[in-house]
Formats: sequence, structure tokens, C-alpha cells
Amino acid sequence: MVREEEEESRSDEGVFYALDLGGTNFLVLRVQLGGKAGGIVHQEFTEASIPPALMGGTSDALFNYIAEKLANFVAAEEEQKFHQPPRRQRELGFTFSFPVMQTSINSGTLIRWTKGFSISDAVGQDVVAELTKALQRKGVEMRVAALVNDTIGTLAGGRYTNKDVAVAVAVAVAVILGTGTNAAYVERAQAIPKWHGPVPKSGEMVINMEWGNFRSLHLPLMEYDHAMDVESLNPGEQISEEAAFFGDEVHAKLKISFILRTPDMSAMHHDTSSDLRVVGQKLKDVLEISNTSLKKRRIVVKLCNIVTARGARLAAAGVLGILKKMGRDSLKDPQKTVVAMDGGLYEHYAEYRGCLENTLRELVGEETASSIVVEHSNDGSGIGAALLTASHSTSKINLEN
Ligand code: GLC
Repeated sequence: MVREEEEESRSDEGVFYALDLGGTNFLVLRVQLGGKAGGIVHQEFTEASIPPALMGGTSDALFNYIAEKLANFVAAEEEQKFHQPPRRQRELGFTFSFPVMQTSINSGTLIRWTKGFSISDAVGQDVVAELTKALQRKGVEMRVAALVNDTIGTLAGGRYTNKDVAVAVAVAVAVILGTGTNAAYVERAQAIPKWHGPVPKSGEMVINMEWGNFRSLHLPLMEYDHAMDVESLNPGEQISEEAAFFGDEVHAKLKISFILRTPDMSAMHHDTSSDLRVVGQKLKDVLEISNTSLKKRRIVVKLCNIVTARGARLAAAGVLGILKKMGRDSLKDPQKTVVAMDGGLYEHYAEYRGCLENTLRELVGEETASSIVVEHSNDGSGIGAALLTASHSTSKINLEN
């Protein structure tokens, strides 16, 4: 096969795997790509949660667990359902959504854990090597071809899965709003002072901003932010993503960090009953605070609104910052820009989503707003990892088997 042809067939044909680890759940995917025009022919996935003990244990224990789930998924031989046999060597894209010092397309060392993980012997290790060792221990023959952050996967997934070509090429920003928050965007390579390597053919590179770690230098902090930070797993770090909101009170349950999960807060915030019955029920079930007055329940809804609006407006400000940096924040550049969004907070919290989108419109102005499209990219990060695996595949394609 001549090189160009190889490149061509490498790009998007065959069966690829993806492993998406970004929080307390992880996802294993198998995707069949149908080549240039074929798109995603078939996909299957399985989801599992990480047992809390493994989030604070050893690197081997975590990766063994993940490798085992992957082994089971592969062994289930659902592959029969796919129209092509698997590659001789299976290949996997690893979406690992924690701060990493990326050293190549398929290697990178973990800088620090976020989102409730704290496995100290993994810090400073190459996470692809750790996963590869665990796969070998479990007898899974699989090459990790790409290591990606969820923002990068979402950007790649958004470009590929968008049916409308004009919209697809316009996907230039990806934002995750979930357990953690982060953004990535397409930058001109020449505008990156830190980059001294060769300029890619496209002249562009994708920047993973790790904006969850933006701190007081960039954002104003309140006394509540400081109070939460001190009690967090990683004081001084990831200050834009701390989530408790009631603060200390007499009720014992209120002293338990993260007791009030986003879905509970969302349910209270979206309570449309005249007596705020859902709020009352949640306070009782989750916080063991019974017999609240309607007045108190109204205050709780107001609190939900204040916290949500602050978070959504900060996220919108972050997106505006990216658009400004890209020169896409005013009508001077009428080019369409698509912002691919994902994450449970964005997906399931309508008030939050609405506030974010309204704020963005307010910030760029009505006229420019029509050229900015905010799109939900459903599970794009896993698909994106499979796509990036396809474009970095080294094995000969199936047809040659
Ligand atoms: C955390 C991680 C980051 C990830 C984000 C969203 O901020 O550090 O890498 O993209 O969560 O999952």
C-alpha cells in the first residue's frame, strides 16, 4: 500500500475502541467507522462506576479494574454484530480527563488528580503506560493509540458527527460542564508562544485550557470560595470547580461535603408546584431537614438560582474569552462558530443551560449571537477518542486480513 493510500484508509475506517474516564463513571465504546462518507456505521458501549475505594487507592488497583471491564466488553464478542472483523490488533483511544503533561499522541504524565480522585502513586506516571500494563496483566491485546482530554474528544466528535459540513468545520470550541469544567479551542499555531515545534499543515493546533484551574489572578473570589477551597481535596487548585453550597449549619448532614448533588439541586430549582413540594421532599430526603416552611423553601430556590446564575455566567464569560482570543466575538468576523458543549450540568440542568446561553447572547450582542451556535455534543468525547485513534492507527486495516 502506498503511503497516501494508507493515510487515507487509516483516517476513518474500521472498528475502534474508546475508554472514557473522567469522573466516577467510565465508558467503554466500540465504534465502526465507515470510511470517508460512511460516518459511524455502528456503535456500542457499556458504562461502569468506579468504586469509591479505588478512587483513593493505588494506580494498579484502578487500572486493573478498568482493564478487567474492558476485557469483559471485548470478550462479549459483540464484535460479530459489526460488519467488519476487528483489526488484527485492536486499538483504543483513551479519554483521560485530568490534567496531563502530554508528551506524544499516546503518552502523557498525570500532573494531579481532580474530581475526587487521589491516587498518589499515579501522579507523575504515564497513564497510557499504566493502562497498557494493566491490559497486559488481564491478557487484553490492545494498543492505546491516542490519549485525549474530554474537551479534545468533544471537539473532534463535534466535527465528525455533525451532518452539516458547514457546521462541522465551524466547531472550534468545546466546553465541558459537569463534575469538572474545562474548555478547548482551535488556535493558530503561530499565536502560541510556548510552541516551538513544527507548524502543522493546517497552521492550527488545539489548546486544552484546563480552565477549572483558573484562580484569583483571573477571577474574583468571595469569602465563600475561600472557605470551600480550604476544605477541598486539593486546596489552592481547581478553584473554579468547587461545588458545595449550603455552608456550615446546625444540621449534621449539611456538614457532609458534596451531600447535595447537582440532580437534587436541579430538581429543587425546577420545582413548579405552588407549595414547592419537591424542595420540601429533597430537603427531607437528602439533608434530613423536615417540616420546612414555604418561606424557607422559597429561599432555597433563590439560593439555587444565585449559585446557578453565578456558575453559568462565569462559564459564559469563559466562552466569551475564547471567542475574543479567536477574534470571533464581533460581527467584524461573520464566520459561524460552533461551541460543542457536554457534561451533566449542561445537559440536565435547564436553568443553568438557559442562563449560560442568555448571558453569552448578552455579552456578544444580538447581532453577533446569530453567528455563534452552542450545540450539545452527546458523549462526543468517547467518539472523538475513537476517531483520533483511527487517525493515529498503525495496524493495517481489516481488508488486508
Ligand atoms: C477537570 C480536569 C479536566 C477535564 C474537566 C472536565 O477540570 O482537570 O482535564 O477536562 O475536569 O471533565
